Amino acid sequence: MERQSTLFDSFSLGGQPLRNRIVLPPLTRSRADDDGVPTPLMEEYYGQRAGAGLVISEGAVITPQASAYPRVPGLYSPDQVTAWRPVVEAAKREGAVVYAQLWHVGRQSHSSVQPDGLPPKAPSPVAITGYPYRSAAGRIPYETPRELTTKEIAGIVQAYGAAARNAVRAGFDGVELHAANGYLIDQFLNDGSNRRTDHYGGSLESRMRFLREVVTEVARHLPMERIGVRLSPSSVWMDANDSDKRTLYSSVVRLVSDLGIAYLHLVEPEIAGSTTVDRPAASIPTAELAGLFDGVVIVTGGHDQVSAEQLLADGIADLVGFGRLFISNPDLPHRFRAQAPLEPLRPTGIYGGGPEGYTDYPRWQEALPDPLFPTPGAPTRTPEGDTAS
Ligand SMILES: Cc1cc2nc3c(=O)[nH]c(=O)nc-3n(C[C@H](O)[C@H](O)[C@H](O)COP(=O)(O)O)c2cc1C
Repeated sequence: MERQSTLFDSFSLGGQPLRNRIVLPPLTRSRADDDGVPTPLMEEYYGQRAGAGLVISEGAVITPQASAYPRVPGLYSPDQVTAWRPVVEAAKREGAVVYAQLWHVGRQSHSSVQPDGLPPKAPSPVAITGYPYRSAAGRIPYETPRELTTKEIAGIVQAYGAAARNAVRAGFDGVELHAANGYLIDQFLNDGSNRRTDHYGGSLESRMRFLREVVTEVARHLPMERIGVRLSPSSVWMDANDSDKRTLYSSVVRLVSDLGIAYLHLVEPEIAGSTTVDRPAASIPTAELAGLFDGVVIVTGGHDQVSAEQLLADGIADLVGFGRLFISNPDLPHRFRAQAPLEPLRPTGIYGGGPEGYTDYPRWQEALPDPLFPTPGAPTRTPEGDTAS
């Protein structure tokens, strides 16, 4: 596939037109209510960011057991589906295509947030040791998870399907499966967290079985060309360890390519969950994995307008995601186009709380000083709409 263009070229994804190649990637902001029901504040937030060509929702958990933190939205109850509708409509206000990210955290959960008060379930009873769990009471060690039975695995596969059906009912155009960042699907893929000896563990084929089954089940509820898969192939965040990541993720990329999904969403090696770190020594070049995928490739992680244009020009990505930049610049595409200054991210209100740090970032025009009373040193608008200081 020819992959050469600019961020403002239109594009076609799963048969739907995108107005630009700018993606709002999934960003957990913890503004749902205590039952995982989306709130009007979320409607405002997504509406503010509707200028992206593709909007991918924050991770939406597929069952109550799938969650690790309070106030994360779900896609398993009728109330959640009803409350997502206006949020999705708001995100579509400027013509964006809108996907829901389906999420199950597996061993990254904790008994304090599990409905039965017991440790979470995962492919194998292997605890995360290198990172703390952020509980309401502070940072505490992760627990050893309970091993999923094959019957329970089948139940989770079904739950992915049900969540995908709910996503369609809520108005989403498609779904993205969160197979990145050491969450449940990634736990099945990596041999450090998957020690199973049944047909879900051992060989590459067996470790990929869960992902294959989930994609196949979800595809019973919406077309394959409306299903995306997100991977973080070089990340070891949350002990996502494997004895041979290059072989593993090359195989996973080929698998989802053969399945004919809508897109592959690759997280860059410099990203550990939500922060930028040094590129791991054993990282796999994004271009190498993108080259194995026959279809649309989204790349996210540490990019600005210049590096994103380069990714497109180099034919590595078709679409580029901007996470933290989109949090602090709700009108990011507009700012890119106008070469306007970018607002920095503030540390408050990233996870949880109210409007502060969530919906109170200004649009560029609002950020401009009053022309009659300019702030010294602040940018002012020229008649052409460009900025000058
Ligand atoms: C506050 C925050 C929440 C995030 N939540 C999610 C999430 O729900 N699902 C996911 O796949 N990635 C999540 N990420 C990762 C982002 O999608 C993205 O990969 C990361 O921020 C790197 O991109 P950036 O450098 O453009 O910010 C989150 C990142 C941040 C900063």
